[in-house]
Amino acid sequence: MAKYVINGGRRLEGTVTISGGKNAAVAILPAALLVSGKCRVENVPDISDVRTLLDILADLGAEITYEEPSTVILDCTNVQSTHPNPELVRKMRASYYLMGALLSRFHEASVALPGGCNFAARPIDQHIKGFRALGAKVQQTEDYVHLKPGPNGLKGGRVSLDVVSVGATVNIMLAACLLPGRTIIENAAKEPHIVDLANFLNTMGAHISGAGTDTVKITGVEKLEGGTYAIIPDQIEAGTYLAAVAATGGNVLVQNVIPKHMECVTSKLEEMGVTCIHYDDSIRVMSDGRLSATNVKTRPYPGFPTDMQAQICVCMSIAKGVSNLTENVYETRFFGYCTELAMMGADILISGKTAIISGREKLTGAVVRAHDLRAGAALVIAGLVAEGATVIKNISFVERGYEHLAEKMTSLGASIQRIED
Ligand code: UD1
Repeated sequence: MAKYVINGGRRLEGTVTISGGKNAAVAILPAALLVSGKCRVENVPDISDVRTLLDILADLGAEITYEEPSTVILDCTNVQSTHPNPELVRKMRASYYLMGALLSRFHEASVALPGGCNFAARPIDQHIKGFRALGAKVQQTEDYVHLKPGPNGLKGGRVSLDVVSVGATVNIMLAACLLPGRTIIENAAKEPHIVDLANFLNTMGAHISGAGTDTVKITGVEKLEGGTYAIIPDQIEAGTYLAAVAATGGNVLVQNVIPKHMECVTSKLEEMGVTCIHYDDSIRVMSDGRLSATNVKTRPYPGFPTDMQAQICVCMSIAKGVSNLTENVYETRFFGYCTELAMMGADILISGKTAIISGREKLTGAVVRAHDLRAGAALVIAGLVAEGATVIKNISFVERGYEHLAEKMTSLGASIQRIED
């Protein structure tokens, strides 16, 4: 297990380049299973979730080659297995996308239930509802999902999701791509990575429309051909750097972003007293570190992302006044980091799905532990702000989703070291 050691209190200055989107990459790489021929995928982030997924695909029989610095060429033509390695599958959340992709291509799959960040109960009933709407027979055991054609075979169908789910929307899109007929997903998620997946699949020859709205329509095609595609920038990584500069104070150009994807985050930071200037593909963030309290409610896109809840909580912890932070997607998400922030001096009272945060003048360094990916990122920001030294243990969580975080922060003037325990 590695740890970060951070000496806080330094302003951040300079330029940081945002990597390809984690949540887009973990949907697009399994989508290569649907393609006959080579997919050249650019802007792939070098993070452990992506490495695990590529290991799973290689183990299934995919030919994978790497081109520096962030391009991966996948050829899944010779894949024959429909049983991904369960130990690898259990290492991450998005491995559940193998269910939809394998079902579409082979009409059957046996996939272990996924692992990943456990900040809340994360059911997959909506994924299964979608597979059933496409005619699949689904058998779920304690630790596996088995999929095969039902009595009437697999074909397009209509599914209205009971909750807006990114995972279910992606999985049904993948499953429907190569099935005959038309699939309609109602109450679909609208996150940028849904649009990115649709763009990838359409580039390879799929017929998907409506991605980015709440109704996604897929007309099945017989075959997808290879091609080249570049993944969108990671809006949560970008938001994390914006929040870090807001909290520490500084002046940073965050480049390789799609500013439109960031509006919900930048408008909240502006309410807190931060200046964000939007350019075509970058945002300049300027802060004197003196923040004002605000209120945030997380919502599915285009609302404030739950994946930025912990980072904005750190900003609120040092803002003047009392902030309310309401979590509407994963109610138990506060528990992954609020106790750790309290050890650093934050004043957070959790009442149901709302955290009431009374801003303090300063945080103080402490030895803390990352319990999940975004919680870990929030502790990094807290460490950068705090007086004295902070040690963050368990940073393998952070490395699931942030490419070269310590190097990028160091290049902005932070004092952060990654140390192998
Ligand atoms: C994805 C993101 C994750 C983000 C989350 C919400 C990926 C790989 N992960 O996770 O970073 O925090 O979206 O933006 O893209 N739900 C059900 N039944 C289901 C599926 C979901 O009840 O079958 C509920 C969940 O408990 C949650 C809500 O729906 O309350 C949203 O979950 P969902 O969008 O599916 O999250 P993930 O796809 O797991």
